[in-house]
Amino acid sequence: MRITKVRPLFTHEMIAKRVAELSDEISAIYKDEPLIAVCVLKGAVIFFSDLVRGIHNNNMLLGFLRMSSYGKGMDPGEIKFEWTLGTDIRDKHVLIVEDVVDTGHSMHFLLNEVRKREPRSVRLAALVDKHERRDADVHVDFAGFQLSEGFIVGYGLDHAEHYRALPDICVVEAVED
Ligand code: IMP
Ligand code: MG
Repeated sequence: MRITKVRPLFTHEMIAKRVAELSDEISAIYKDEPLIAVCVLKGAVIFFSDLVRGIHNNNMLLGFLRMSSYGKGMDPGEIKFEWTLGTDIRDKHVLIVEDVVDTGHSMHFLLNEVRKREPRSVRLAALVDKHERRDADVHVDFAGFQLSEGFIVGYGLDHAEHYRALPDICVVEAVED
């Protein structure tokens, strides 16, 4: 049996308040202009579903994409993603919604791919903007929380696919199998 000890870092109350603030900020920027909000699976799924429900935009569509994970030091050119938007993003505003920006390689790659498709604009929302290992130049337009160091789980974020359903964002203190 898996025994886990986790310590909440950002509680569900803190998250709810912060995500509502981001939704309001995003609503004010786009108003009713055509917008495609794109969830980067799987990590952003819970953040995305809370965030988009607070965005007031009558012309917003939802898209989903899956990026393959990769280890430290791997060539960013080898990042793969599955694009299942089902719609042309040309001349539309695109809002990428990601869980964590860490080294920045994933989002640097994805933002370039999105720009090639000639959207009207592309912005990035990330639940957590981590700084310790930042390597690629990525601007996070809407950041939920800043974190200088550490590995976090919960509210969609995983460690080897575990802990995604925790309501709080937590630090893992001990795992016994
Ligand atoms: P990158 O290093 O910015 O390319 O981030 C790669 C991916 O690693 C992110 O999209 C997250 O899914 C994952 N990741 C990075 N740091 C954490 C963490 O602290 N918890 C869970 N996932 C993380
Ligand atoms: Mg991710």
